[in-house]
Amino acid sequence: MELYKKVLRVARNYKGLLILAIFFMFFSTLTDGVSLGMLVPISDKVLNNHPIVFPGTKLPAFLTQLINKVNSMNPQPLLIWISAIVLVLIAIKGLTFYIQRLIMEVIGQRVIRDLRDQLFTKIQHMSLDFFSNTRVGELVSRLTYDIYVIRHAFTEGIADSVYYSFQLLLYLGIVLFINFKLALFVLVFLPGISWPLLKLGKRLRKISRQIQGKMADLNSRMQEAFVSMNIVKAFSMEKEEVKRFKALNRDFYKLILKSMRRTLFLNPATEFIAGAGGIAVLVIGGREVIQGRMSFGVFVYFLGALMALMKPVKRLIKVYNFNQVAMAAVERVFEIIEKEPTVRESESAIDLPLPCKDIVFENVWFKYEEDFVLKGINLKVDMGEIVCLVGPSGAGKTTLLSLLLRFYDPTEGRILIDGVDLRDVRIDSLRRYVGLVTQEPVLFNDTVYNNIAYGMKDKSPQEVEQAAKIANAHEFIVRLPQGYDTVIGERGVKLSGGEKQRIAIARAVLKNPPILILDEATAQLDADSELKVQEAIQRLIQNRTVFLIAHRLSTARRADRIVVMEEGRIVEEGKHEELLARNGLYCKYYRYQFQDVGGKL
Ligand SMILES: Nc1ncnc2c1ncn2[C@@H]1O[C@H](COP(=O)(O)OP(=O)(O)OP(=O)(O)O)[C@@H](O)[C@H]1O
Ligand SMILES: [Mg+2]
Repeated sequence: MELYKKVLRVARNYKGLLILAIFFMFFSTLTDGVSLGMLVPISDKVLNNHPIVFPGTKLPAFLTQLINKVNSMNPQPLLIWISAIVLVLIAIKGLTFYIQRLIMEVIGQRVIRDLRDQLFTKIQHMSLDFFSNTRVGELVSRLTYDIYVIRHAFTEGIADSVYYSFQLLLYLGIVLFINFKLALFVLVFLPGISWPLLKLGKRLRKISRQIQGKMADLNSRMQEAFVSMNIVKAFSMEKEEVKRFKALNRDFYKLILKSMRRTLFLNPATEFIAGAGGIAVLVIGGREVIQGRMSFGVFVYFLGALMALMKPVKRLIKVYNFNQVAMAAVERVFEIIEKEPTVRESESAIDLPLPCKDIVFENVWFKYEEDFVLKGINLKVDMGEIVCLVGPSGAGKTTLLSLLLRFYDPTEGRILIDGVDLRDVRIDSLRRYVGLVTQEPVLFNDTVYNNIAYGMKDKSPQEVEQAAKIANAHEFIVRLPQGYDTVIGERGVKLSGGEKQRIAIARAVLKNPPILILDEATAQLDADSELKVQEAIQRLIQNRTVFLIAHRLSTARRADRIVVMEEGRIVEEGKHEELLARNGLYCKYYRYQFQDVGGKL
């Protein structure tokens, strides 16, 4: 029930439309009842020329009058009248049904459009830990398959449940009206039909959750395989990948069949029970007709209404079951929509003023999962200083600086800019002042121009070009087939490693932030490329406060201060020469790791 409310809440903007649709459904149902009523005069008067006899006496006056009028008519003109009326009714019914469905479709499509927007917006605002713990394929599957299922539930589920409820009430009314006793007898069948089928629905919901989970697995698998195609090929793993995919695909198929076996069973099962009920009515009602208490035509109407009653019952059960499936999807979608990002902006957050004094890490502890990755970091950096972080892989360098951007919050301790805790400033005001060049350049499948100007719409083409020149990128960009308008492929696959890095640097140059985080790429470039990248970096870091994560000596040497990290701690600090003289970890590091690269440059 909770879940229904959630979906309906999304639909609340379309309340007016929904009421309109319900009005048309009601109208459409009414025409059904009247059309079916035409069976009475046709069977009694037109075909048999007998008077119509309704059992019981309490007919409303207008109906008694109508029946008397019909009873006094001749079969010939009556037939023409009835034909005309039925024709009109069919037309009205068709039209109202069409309009009603169309409105529901419009609402359904809007609801899922809104839901998809909401979901994507939410995902965009999740903190980074969410993405470490959620597979991309899973998210895609929620945005596509789950949303699709919900749409279905909405247009058909809601439309059908209202429409067929009307039908149910209508035919139930007719049946009860004509013969209360007989009707009651039949109605004991209804729960008989419904109960086991509703139970089946519960099971379907469970299977359905499994199906949606498998769908997500399948999506993730595909995504991973396609994105890593070069590695797959390099290791000749195509066959293995296909095998893994096939296994998943087969599981998926099995689950779908399992659910279909149950879904398909619904129809014959209801059919059989309904048939048995109908036969019982035939026997009992037949006796009433033989004894003259009811005319043949009224009996036909009764039987007709009874048969017609089965359809809404069956449909409602089907809708119920389908809604169970959809609710599994709703659950999964709202699971994300209702998730709170771990990094949140406080209500009283202020705009960070332009940093002018210092940045302080104060006893910062941090862990992603169980183990602490940062263990009590204390570091004070003055504005304008270039600080270089070095240390073995996994020491926590990237992690430390991602806290400065508030990708995560410290588990303990705090980070201050000009004395203000990062948790008390508006996140976008902080990120406006901090530039980031990541270890792996992050590029989008867009033009070179848009990649450089990412997030900076207000920059002019001249500024973009200027930034590219400073980053040593202009030269190769103009040689690309469409220059700045060249689309560079997903994650920039159409560019070389060095070119990607220089685009990423150009982006940072253009942003021109007072504080810069530069995570040097670990990948080795050829000497020429390396030189260009180093030159670009050199220009980029001028006149800023820079946190440089260095993997090369040439970079480390440029810093005002070198901070050596190991296993989440700062173990040494100082200038290059001082640290060498101290003969500690940096010195060892320098000898083993930096030497060849340093020598080469
Ligand atoms: N998203 C994450 N979820 C869980 N653990 C993580 C995550 N990112 C990093 N880690 C772990 O945190 C530790 C520090 O990683 P970090 O990326 O900060 O190292 P680093 O010093 O930048 O290494 P490198 O020089 O190789 O870039 C590692 O042990 C790593 O396994
Ligand atoms: Mg790193």
